[in-house]
Amino acid sequence: MEKKDIDWSKLGFAYQQTDMRYVSNYKDGAWDEGVLTADANITLNECACIFQYCQECFEGLKAYTTEDGRIVTFRPDLNAERMMDSAARLEMPQFPKERFIDAVNQVVKANAAYVPPFGSGATLYIRPYMMGTNPVIGVKPADEFQFRMFTTPVGPYFKGGAKPITIRVSDFDRAAPHGTGHIKAGLNYAMSLHAIVDAHQQGYDENMYLDAATRTKVEETGGANFIFVTKDNKVVTPKSRSILPSITRRSLMYVAKEYLGLEAEEREVTLEEVKDFAECGLCGTAAVISPVGKIVDHGKEILLPSGMDDMGPVIKKLYDTLTGIQMGRIEPPKGWIHVIE
Ligand code: PLP
Ligand code: COI
Repeated sequence: MEKKDIDWSKLGFAYQQTDMRYVSNYKDGAWDEGVLTADANITLNECACIFQYCQECFEGLKAYTTEDGRIVTFRPDLNAERMMDSAARLEMPQFPKERFIDAVNQVVKANAAYVPPFGSGATLYIRPYMMGTNPVIGVKPADEFQFRMFTTPVGPYFKGGAKPITIRVSDFDRAAPHGTGHIKAGLNYAMSLHAIVDAHQQGYDENMYLDAATRTKVEETGGANFIFVTKDNKVVTPKSRSILPSITRRSLMYVAKEYLGLEAEEREVTLEEVKDFAECGLCGTAAVISPVGKIVDHGKEILLPSGMDDMGPVIKKLYDTLTGIQMGRIEPPKGWIHVIE
């Protein structure tokens, strides 16, 4: 199969339309069988629940070309399960796990020409999402839904790639203690848009959100979980019921323990103790692991000892091992790599 004529190494994290996407509709209590379509546009009634009350959830995963030329995805079963959790919390029907994985297979195969080659530094981002489609004017859930999945080739989420970024402690909250921070709902991102525009205007790459109740504990950023490394090489990640359970973070904690022999702990992390860590990184599907060099807390600078030039040594090992597993260079744990046949 001939690849598209794209300068893969120049790709940033931006939408580029690809050939086919998957669509399935839910009506009268059941999903239809689903189809691939070339039509990238959606036409809905003006009063569709998605437009009025933001009944929507989504996922993000990637397809990779391995060294031996296979196309694979990373733990798509966990994306399917998390989307089922998101749907349940938003009063939406669940899209079955086997069907989610079948849709991943179909949509990646249909857009195989857009899967970046091994070693290009780019990947094919897969965006599943679901929304309430029928008209609703009183505040209630829709009863008709659409599940879609499109793909777009992407490069690094942050412009500098592996260069450490600078973030600030946000005065805005991302998630309420008993709200929706733990699911992947578009509404969580809508409320982060002002905060990210403001952060960029002030010269920061991202926001560090604190727990909304006490504003003393580290939660996550707008699009990634935190990983910290202590001065004695222990990997620490914040535990909270209001952050997204990142698949990358869960995988990294396993990699730290089982591949690198490091201690790895999920626990509450206070803002106060951040100055004592040796390394910090943001982890997620889009971010992979982006090193953080500086955190600014209302004018007070916290400079991570790993500096502003390179990834710290432990984060680098985590990065190399995770991407090695994803790209087929390192033997994966059972079930982590899903080959697109
Ligand atoms: N946190 C937020 C708010 C995110 O949007 C994402 C991206 O998916 C993550 C964390 C990382 O999750 P994952 O590793 O499953 O992509
Ligand atoms: C992902 O990493 O897949 C996300 O959804 C994060 C988003 C901010 C691009």
